[in-house]
Amino acid sequence: MRPKFIAGNWKMYTSLTGARDLAAAVAAGASAVPEVMVAVCPPFPWLNAVKGVLAGSPVLLGGQNCHFETEGAFTGEVAPAMLVDAGCEYVILGHSERRHGMGETNAVLLKKTRAALAAGLKVIFCIGELLAEREAGQTEAVLAKQLREGVAGLTPDQMANVVLAYEPVWAIGTGKVATPDQAQAAHAFVRGMVRTLFGDAIANGVLIQYGGSVKADNAATLLHLPDVDGALVGGASLKADSFLAIVKAAVR
Ligand code: PGA
Repeated sequence: MRPKFIAGNWKMYTSLTGARDLAAAVAAGASAVPEVMVAVCPPFPWLNAVKGVLAGSPVLLGGQNCHFETEGAFTGEVAPAMLVDAGCEYVILGHSERRHGMGETNAVLLKKTRAALAAGLKVIFCIGELLAEREAGQTEAVLAKQLREGVAGLTPDQMANVVLAYEPVWAIGTGKVATPDQAQAAHAFVRGMVRTLFGDAIANGVLIQYGGSVKADNAATLLHLPDVDGALVGGASLKADSFLAIVKAAVR
């Protein structure tokens, strides 16, 4: 049976003090729910401090992005090994705010994913359709393309270290959440694609998080759909109470 995995994407929010306090509260609360995997993904400058706060807790640390080169003259970028050094187990790649805000393509994301895996990170690889794409009936075509170009080039061993996050772009930060039917249909489609590309064992094991306006009051319904294995949480991850309520909602 697949575990549930709840990850908090803090985006470009929190101060150093706020990040420490939030991490401490998440660590304290998550310790009481050991059956749920929990991660927090703070801004780069706070990673090491947050790692210190999380010491001894089961909460995992993730970065929000990385470069595909191991080092070099790339002003403002962060190498995968730097995230490992800072204490990260995970990195989020392909978030819609990077695909659509920073022009990241599937080809770049495949390079980033390979580099992150080579450095020993696990990857939370985000996919999802725009509102216009959903309305045009293109949701499955968009997801298929993102998977074919973004992860199909990985080996099965590499794919075993990838978590997928289905995040309909129209639901991110908007308060509009996918209906249970929409979420389950998309997740089942994504798992079917993984089955086609990587076979039964990888498809049955891959964790597929839902993301987009997950809150304490809608989490329980989403998290217990057959193909939903957790959540990637933005806004509601910035307060320990709301984030921990989502973690608790993941318990069967
Ligand atoms: P949201 O963000 O929960 O604020 O909609 C989700 C995400 O961007 O991962």
